[in-house]
Amino acid sequence: MGVSSFSIATPPNPIEEEDESQNSSLLSSNKTQSVNQSQNPKKTIFFISLIIITCISLSVAIAFGFLYYSSIKNVSPSKSVSPSMAETARPLVKLSQPVVLLISTDGFRFGYQFKTPTPNIHRLIHNGTEADLGLIPVFPTLTFPNHYSIATGLYPAYHGIINNHFTYPGTGETFYMGSHDSKWWLGEPIWETVMNHGLKAATYFWPGSEVKKGSWNCSADMCKHFNGSVAFEERVDTVLKYFDLTSNEIPSFMTLYFEDPDAQGHKVGPDDPQITAAVAKVDKMIGRLIDGLEKRGVFEDVTIILVGDHGMVGTCDKKIIYVDDLSPWIEIPPTSVQTYTPVLSMYPPPGISAADTVAKMMEGLKSGKVDNGMNMRVFLKEDLPARLHYAASERIPPIIGLLEEGFKVEQKKTKRKECGGSHGYDNSYFSMRSIFIGHGPQFGRGVKVPSFENVEIYNLITSVLKIQGAPNNGTESFLKSILLPSS
Ligand SMILES: *[C@@H]1O[C@H](CO)[C@@H](O)[C@H](O)[C@H]1NC(C)=O
Ligand SMILES: *[C@@H]1O[C@H](CO)[C@@H](O)[C@H](O)[C@H]1NC(C)=O
Ligand SMILES: *[C@@H]1O[C@H](CO)[C@@H](O)[C@H](O)[C@H]1NC(C)=O
Ligand SMILES: *[C@@H]1O[C@H](CO)[C@@H](O)[C@H](O)[C@H]1NC(C)=O
Repeated sequence: MGVSSFSIATPPNPIEEEDESQNSSLLSSNKTQSVNQSQNPKKTIFFISLIIITCISLSVAIAFGFLYYSSIKNVSPSKSVSPSMAETARPLVKLSQPVVLLISTDGFRFGYQFKTPTPNIHRLIHNGTEADLGLIPVFPTLTFPNHYSIATGLYPAYHGIINNHFTYPGTGETFYMGSHDSKWWLGEPIWETVMNHGLKAATYFWPGSEVKKGSWNCSADMCKHFNGSVAFEERVDTVLKYFDLTSNEIPSFMTLYFEDPDAQGHKVGPDDPQITAAVAKVDKMIGRLIDGLEKRGVFEDVTIILVGDHGMVGTCDKKIIYVDDLSPWIEIPPTSVQTYTPVLSMYPPPGISAADTVAKMMEGLKSGKVDNGMNMRVFLKEDLPARLHYAASERIPPIIGLLEEGFKVEQKKTKRKECGGSHGYDNSYFSMRSIFIGHGPQFGRGVKVPSFENVEIYNLITSVLKIQGAPNNGTESFLKSILLPSS
């Protein structure tokens, strides 16, 4: 595998909308050509000058018209790539204070919104702000690390949830997705920040929300314990009922979580019709939510942030690397391995150093004698690309193997033959991206912003709620690029 596969995958430039003046000059240059062919030189020069003058005046007129238009009205949809200078946040109409509703649709890969008509998601896009080429997850691109990065603004090394499951080296204790002891969950999640400021928060599922931490005690009425059997409709309707409370009782921050289309993506991969159906169902839930908010007259007041935690890529049984195939170079017992696919994380086998383990594994992988060996690269965690931010925690095992998109790693060959989907890979793969759509008083309408990492979202929420957040890994310049200034 070439080094290039692990270089920063620079996102392609956002597709720039052709503006009207460009269109008109394109049209006229075509015309000029055809005129040229049929006229004599003098006439042609006259004609060209005339057309150029017409062009310039037209562009100026259009430009002024557009400036005027944007100063009196909000920026017209899909024209701008960043909030207009002239536009400011819209005042609340019915609510007495800002409310943020953070919604996650698990494994909603960027692009799924075009699989099938998604009129409700597109309503939010049309009148809201969208990450043009999707939301960039943190590494590893797994559900728990990412949801908790969204909630804390921290990279996994700093919030402690470095994988969906791991063993703490000091004590041998194991973290799994049902671990609710606060010792695992570092940092300050947004629901705790909200409570610290005397505001109310309500969570309808979110990894980490069941954990009692500081001022957040996960009280029964405001904090639901994960139960995948609860119908999506019931989740939406419960959130809607919070808006029937008296205005000072309405939680300032709420979450809503759907485990689709991740569940289907793992089973059948990202390109199966089952995904299309799951996406349509999520869209229906967004519609149910919008309807309910509109009935209560608060749709335009509520700040809706719709995200996914990661994307999905197809995997198949011919794209597997077997750890046992490395045995001519180094014997790696299963007890040394903490996680396999799609992030190999492991300790050195007894009696051998981590550096020697990496060297021997790489020798085997590069030998050409290990099936798919060229598709995995093994690192000491401190040698991983810095952009992954995956070293500064003793919970992260010392040796990490990065797989190329769509590959898997297992201990040994089995008879199992299957194709499905997976995520967890390098967050620079486009397939790992999810969606970001913000809709509400502080989001411009029809605005596209460049893709950004999900650790920015925590500051976005505290800013809308006008509260001071805890230190985190979001960047200072980000808020100005996405939120409208207060009027
Ligand atoms: C977008 O917002 C405008 C102004 O409030 C409203 O008239 C229009 O119906 C909205 N469009 C959609 C698709 O919701
Ligand atoms: C949990 O917190 C809420 C809000 O601060 C408080 O009203 C409630 O009494 C607390 N419950 C428990 C069991 O501590
Ligand atoms: C999970 O939700 C289902 C459907 O609402 C319910 O019947 C079941 O009792 C719940 N399970 C638990 C453990 O609360
Ligand atoms: C992330 O934020 C934490 C908390 O402020 C800080 O300790 C850490 O150095 C930050 N890491 C990076 C890479 O910015």
